[in-house]
Amino acid sequence: LTRYRELADELAALITHGTLQVGERVPSVRSLVQQYRVSPATAMRAYEILESKDLIEARPRSGYYVSRTAEPAHSRPPSKSTRVEVSDLVFDILEATRVRDVVPLGSAFPSPLLFPWAKLARFLGSSARHMDPWTTVQSLPPGSEELRRQIARRYLLSGASVRTDEVVITSGALEALNLALATVTRPGDVIAIESPTFYACLQAVELAGLKAVEIPTHPGSGVDIGALRDAIAKHNIRACWFMTTFQNPLGATMPEERKKELVALLAKHEIPLIEDDVYAELYFGERPRSAKSFDRKGLVLNCGSFSKCLAPGYRIGWVAAGRFAKDIQRRKIISTLATSVPVQEGIAAMLRHDGLDGHLTDLRQALRDQQQKTLISIKRHFPAGVRVVVPDGGYFLWLELPKSADAMEIYRAALAARISVAPGPMFSARRAFHNCLRINCGHPFTADIDRAIAKLGKICGTAGSTDPPRAS
Ligand SMILES: Cc1ncc(COP(=O)(O)O)c(C=O)c1O
Repeated sequence: LTRYRELADELAALITHGTLQVGERVPSVRSLVQQYRVSPATAMRAYEILESKDLIEARPRSGYYVSRTAEPAHSRPPSKSTRVEVSDLVFDILEATRVRDVVPLGSAFPSPLLFPWAKLARFLGSSARHMDPWTTVQSLPPGSEELRRQIARRYLLSGASVRTDEVVITSGALEALNLALATVTRPGDVIAIESPTFYACLQAVELAGLKAVEIPTHPGSGVDIGALRDAIAKHNIRACWFMTTFQNPLGATMPEERKKELVALLAKHEIPLIEDDVYAELYFGERPRSAKSFDRKGLVLNCGSFSKCLAPGYRIGWVAAGRFAKDIQRRKIISTLATSVPVQEGIAAMLRHDGLDGHLTDLRQALRDQQQKTLISIKRHFPAGVRVVVPDGGYFLWLELPKSADAMEIYRAALAARISVAPGPMFSARRAFHNCLRINCGHPFTADIDRAIAKLGKICGTAGSTDPPRAS
């Protein structure tokens, strides 16, 4: 390839991938010559090629600009219908849910419209304006003292006595979970996980070089303790990673007695429990107690965040780490040093002055209302024989279709119709749950969503299913 063609290709890629956007000025010929060490003739030839492809246009006495007809690659619909691995599938689905005109029934996030952005911005602004510059040093891990105190106080509401110095602030719950996993295991260890489970758990296990034993998890009551007991007898289980409340994807919550039994069983064997508790605040009825609230040995590492209940995108999470707090704090310093200090201070100020409860009451009400409407729509539009698990909180519905249904085929057909869904196999290392779907009901229920559910119901009635309908 000649140098001017190579240069033209590099610049074309910057345009189609959106680094250089429509209407933006591109580097002058002179700066190309200087920065890319090419001759003026090479730079001019490269620009002629881009002009001939309508990617840039010359403006008299002003230089070259990205032309109005240049189409960025990310405005095209996401590619579909290729057979994918589970991890590719996860990334594909995350990608699809970022495209605004895809109905986000497969999304892991609630609608961003349900959060108090203006209020958060006021607290963030005023705390940044009044922040003592020394805070940037003092807020190194474990993190903002005030934020950790506020978080520890909230644990009291669910019957857990958590000391401020047990809480380590992280970048979202996902970092908390990964730090917890790295702290209580070594590569090659065996850990117990739920089946089905949150796909990030599968990815974390893979990343940490661990082996996983999948414990059957029931839509109504969560982890099967008998199966866990058998697994502990058979394998050298070094840790458990469970979502004890509003499990993702099932929505299951372990009853209090079962959580107590779980903590007692693990305490007997000195096995740490990584409790992923990100949906804890999204209950519709009674506030569920966490497994952490029964922990007397400091073996439960309860991971939470504000991502689902207050401030998605702010990336503030934490782990109440019991006896592992010091180790986690050190790992946090080694891996990312600290979490954004002004953001920690902003959320701490909001919790201190405004509390969370007013907003949470509205959020829970909105989620419950959306869940009810989604259920009515599913009942109306889905074929008979579809079983829906209805949790008492959170924003997921787990659908079991007849055994012959193919969730991957449904996923592909739905995406072609600009609807995302989360197919069962993405929640399993063995790609089980081939006939299950997770539906997000975290978005305000609109006619568009109703239409998308109707369409999805139609797809489920045809795609991959040859079973006669069964009663639900
Ligand atoms: C079960 C579960 N745990 C953890 C996370 C990650 O939380 P965060 O966004 O705070 O990192 C999610 C987000 O989808 C989740 O569903």
